[in-house]
Amino acid sequence: MDKLVIRGGTPLLGTVRISGAKNAALPCMAAALLTDEPVILENIPQVRDIETTRKLLAAMGADVELGYGRANHRTTICARTLAAPEASYELVKTMRASTLVLGPLVARCGRAHVSLPGGCAIGARPIDLHIKGLERLGAKITQEHGYVEATADRLHGAEIVFDKITVTGTEDLLMAATLAEGETVMQNCAREPEVADLAALLNAMGAKITGAGTSTIRIKGVSKLHGARHRIIPDRIEAGTFIIAGALTGGDLNITGCDPAHLTTILAKLEETGVKTTVKTDSVRVMGDQPLRAADMNTEEYPGFPTDMQAQYMALATQAEGTSIVTENIFENRFMHAQELLRMGANIKIEGRRAIVQGKSALSGAAVLASDLRASASLVLAALVADGETIIDRVYHLDRGYEKIEEKLKAVGAQIRRVGNILPPR
Ligand code: EPZ
Repeated sequence: MDKLVIRGGTPLLGTVRISGAKNAALPCMAAALLTDEPVILENIPQVRDIETTRKLLAAMGADVELGYGRANHRTTICARTLAAPEASYELVKTMRASTLVLGPLVARCGRAHVSLPGGCAIGARPIDLHIKGLERLGAKITQEHGYVEATADRLHGAEIVFDKITVTGTEDLLMAATLAEGETVMQNCAREPEVADLAALLNAMGAKITGAGTSTIRIKGVSKLHGARHRIIPDRIEAGTFIIAGALTGGDLNITGCDPAHLTTILAKLEETGVKTTVKTDSVRVMGDQPLRAADMNTEEYPGFPTDMQAQYMALATQAEGTSIVTENIFENRFMHAQELLRMGANIKIEGRRAIVQGKSALSGAAVLASDLRASASLVLAALVADGETIIDRVYHLDRGYEKIEEKLKAVGAQIRRVGNILPPR
């Protein structure tokens, strides 16, 4: 099992190029199931979850080419025939976003046999809203032996109001509604940029969607969708992670190939802590030459401060003068990074959904354990400013959503290397 070894204390200087957004690429790959023609997706990130999705689609009978050429990371998916419209527990348990195939399979094949995702490190993460919405669209759903079985002769349009804002729930039903008979109106939808990116692909495939990116989305069903070519948006969470890395290490980083319009709340919050940035059309420059000051932060659905940046923000808060109260409103168990940060010398007290972070703490390198994707990123950030060497184990969590993170960090001066099994520091 790979580990990352990081020696802290080096300011990061130079340019980091942001990869395509994992959380846009995953639903866009699932959308290819809706047509028997080729769908070409560009700017695909080279991360583990994309490989998992490739396996998932191939197991159903789709042709999936995935290439990471220097010029462009691209996948071409052609679901001409789908012999097995299902997603096995073996794959779904490694990536809960596999449930994104549920809506497309019912819409395209009239049947889907998809494993329930089961628990996850950051929370229960049920898919009851996906199922409720599919039933509104006319699917018959049964659940047994850990699987969801969904069938429908043809889905029909409906009025859907989400009890809670759900990103993949919005995406799953958006895809299903494109081939339903009649119009569907969905309210209380997720407004994340990744939803709008998926809708852009679906409309390029011939769907008739309006309102994506707002809380009300209208879909006029069509009988068939055709192939298309689409470029995935940049990863706003990767960009936010590197901006914090530049700020934390007192560096001067130019983050290119990003979309600052997706970063407004993150940049506003970081400015409140004293982080200085200059924003251009597709880049953000961060200068960490100012002392950091504490600022409270609440995670909210987009356009609020993203829950996927909470762990990274907590690492920053340990280096800010004063008390920062970090409140996690989206998931019930997303503070596992706090225990590991405490072992590095941070001063954090967890009270239910709130983490009270006292800064500035001198962090020291330690052997730590990654528990989930964004917690791992938080530990990398802390290690970059800790005194001495940190060994982060189970970095496969990190590899799920960050493309070549050690190469990108090394290129701007970080002392970081990936190793196999080694003994923790004495
Ligand atoms: C998406 O997960 C992202 N994953 C997550 O990113 C992200 O943290 C999350 O949205 C919130 O922004 C992808 O896009 C692949 P939700 P998703 O449904 O869709 C509850 C990362 O690090 N809920 O918006 O699974 C749920 O329990 C990952 O890249 C229900 O109760 O999240 C949670 O409390 C981690 N019933 C809240 O809604 C449902 O049917 C929001 O979850 C669905 C969700």
